[in-house]
Amino acid sequence: MARKKISLIGAGNIGGELANLALTKQLGDVVLFDIPAKENFAKGKALDLEQASTQSGSDGSVIGSGNWEDCKDSDVLIITAGIPRKPGQSRDDLVGMNVPIIRDVADNAKKHCPNAFVIVISNPLDAMVYEFQRRTGFPANKVCGMAGVLDSARFSLFLAREAGVSVKDVRAMVLGGHGDTMVPLLSYTTVNGIEISKFIAKDKLDEIVARTRKGGGEIVGLMGTSAYYAPAAAAISMAAAYLNDEKRVLPAAAHLTGQYGCNGMYLGVPCVIGAGGVEKVIELELSPAEQDMMKTSLAAVQSVVDVVNKSAD
Ligand code: APR
Repeated sequence: MARKKISLIGAGNIGGELANLALTKQLGDVVLFDIPAKENFAKGKALDLEQASTQSGSDGSVIGSGNWEDCKDSDVLIITAGIPRKPGQSRDDLVGMNVPIIRDVADNAKKHCPNAFVIVISNPLDAMVYEFQRRTGFPANKVCGMAGVLDSARFSLFLAREAGVSVKDVRAMVLGGHGDTMVPLLSYTTVNGIEISKFIAKDKLDEIVARTRKGGGEIVGLMGTSAYYAPAAAAISMAAAYLNDEKRVLPAAAHLTGQYGCNGMYLGVPCVIGAGGVEKVIELELSPAEQDMMKTSLAAVQSVVDVVNKSAD
């Protein structure tokens, strides 16, 4: 069987780490794509990565490109094209700059990769993935956004460190939009099935929830640009779930048709991801407080989607 083809649209910080992980995990052949002005940069990064992969013994190739023809018939597209945050900016502040970029990517993806499973990472995430799917008309189950796996990873890590347990044993999920209104679900958070409240007192849990909500901003404040190792690792888990038909239960921005009170937009919810893409959205029973938080988060996503829709043709 031929190797799968994974095209990474955006060869910047996240794109480079995505390529590194796709190669070391032997997911397939990689195309690292960027705008023509950055084609040589993409080519140089690809060469560096391919040379690094001699040490991990990967068989997959990686090429750098500024030509969409090279992405033709990709099995997976992971999109990081766009401008990242600078200190003091919210993800929503990026909408004006990143909407024209996601539209350019959508038009080319439609032309060259009509059968791909698409994972959008560009921010503001929920509005960007909405616009990508609207513009391409791709089946909604083949287009999703990466945010929940990352937000949940941050939440799980903070919980594990505070509880003094292995992060492997923490089960936690963050739903809602990828912004300050995200919804870390305490009622479903356990250490291998044991309620988290047995390990961490309420005031500490509240601090961890607040730190999770600002988890991306904390890194932007320290580095001057947004995170890339954890976002790439999260998206690669989603790509592997699709390519290997793993049927993983992961939080992802999925197209909703009434679930969680959301109709026709994307929002972070628990999904089953396998060979059919987003095969299922799982509807959880939420506490009244969690329901309120989901409503607030949905309203925040809606306000950015409204901005996107105003400029739609
Ligand atoms: N097509 C392809 N690539 C593009 C396009 C386009 N139309 N426009 C911009 N790019 C490329 C840029 O040239 C740059 O190389 O996207 C790349 C983005 O890389 P970085 O600036 O390093 O940003 P990164 O940290 O990877 O984040 C990318 O993901 O998490 C989000 O908020 C983040 O929106 C940002 C995106």
